[in-house]
Amino acid sequence: MKILVTGGLGFIASHTVVALLEKNYEVVIIDNLSNTSLDVLEGITRITGKNPDFYQIDIRNKSDLSQFFNERPDIKGIIHFAAFKAVGESVEKPLDYYENNVAALVYLLKESCKINQPKFIFSSSCTVYDQAKTLPITENAPVQKANSPYGNTKQIGEEIILDYINSGADLQAISLRYFNPIGAHPTALIGELPIGVPQNLVPFVTQTAAGKREVLSVFGNDYPTEDGTCIRDYIHVMDLAEIHVIALEKLLDQNHAKSYDVFNVGTGKGNSVLDVIKTFEKVNNLKLNYKIANRRPGDVTTAYADTDKVEKELGWKAKRSMADALKDAWQWEKKQQ
Ligand code: WQD
Repeated sequence: MKILVTGGLGFIASHTVVALLEKNYEVVIIDNLSNTSLDVLEGITRITGKNPDFYQIDIRNKSDLSQFFNERPDIKGIIHFAAFKAVGESVEKPLDYYENNVAALVYLLKESCKINQPKFIFSSSCTVYDQAKTLPITENAPVQKANSPYGNTKQIGEEIILDYINSGADLQAISLRYFNPIGAHPTALIGELPIGVPQNLVPFVTQTAAGKREVLSVFGNDYPTEDGTCIRDYIHVMDLAEIHVIALEKLLDQNHAKSYDVFNVGTGKGNSVLDVIKTFEKVNNLKLNYKIANRRPGDVTTAYADTDKVEKELGWKAKRSMADALKDAWQWEKKQQ
């Protein structure tokens, strides 16, 4: 069964491709290589021994996308990762984010009607909740006004899919609202490849430990939390990859009647920035050079998932710990030149 993975050479996507291949799905990857490299395709092949089809396509290019779907009507499911994802960058370049994350989603959905009863998994984010009033965060928590164009593109993306389905489209979809993906494949053959200065915590931690960055700045220790630093739900990227396959299989199940659903995907545990640093130091037996700096605008204080719904309805629970992820992240960093 052929599954299209857009942005398939990205961080979460490449780990999802590995999980799909290991379950004997045939995978077709499209990626414009704007935020990754073909080395990732080599890593996927070395891990799985398989060569997924790869097309260098930019989903913003309507004619290329249309030609692809004309040639590949055999695709049964689409896992849509292709999007820009840096919160800060989205504030500087909002139109790029709306074009790539929203307009291109519309083109993809239009093309999907060339497939019989397409199954669609959308890469969403807990950022849609902003600072939730109740913790842990359930799927019923209100979607609040996004505090970045990036977060807004995720909210709009979910609404576009639902409106399209409600218009009578023969498409079934699941949106997965990720919490904080971290880590790498235990072989260290694929992992997170931030281009430029890492925006996210864990790649900045590993690059500081590797001496590529002089010091990690902890963005604020005056939050109303136990140690004053922000709390997040850090989920191993391998666990995240596995839930994508499970969600897709739910849609492929003939008896699955629901046309649209949303799931929070996290571990259900919250850890502070200082917890991450201390755990990283402990599991990798090193000292990290960090300092306390000012708060980063737009950060929420606390976000971690209520995992009841995904456990009950998809029978999934994260298996790996934050410590596992921080060990794998460091093994991956050490392999980067
Ligand atoms: C985590 C914590 C920072 C860097 C965002 C998006 C989310 C998803 C993941 C794409 C925060 C602190 C960070 C640093 C620090 N996006 N931090 N020093 O902001 O929770 O989530 O990225 O997949 O949709 O919203 O993740 O890793 O940037 O920050 O102290 O150098 O680490 O303040 O408290 P975030 P993050």
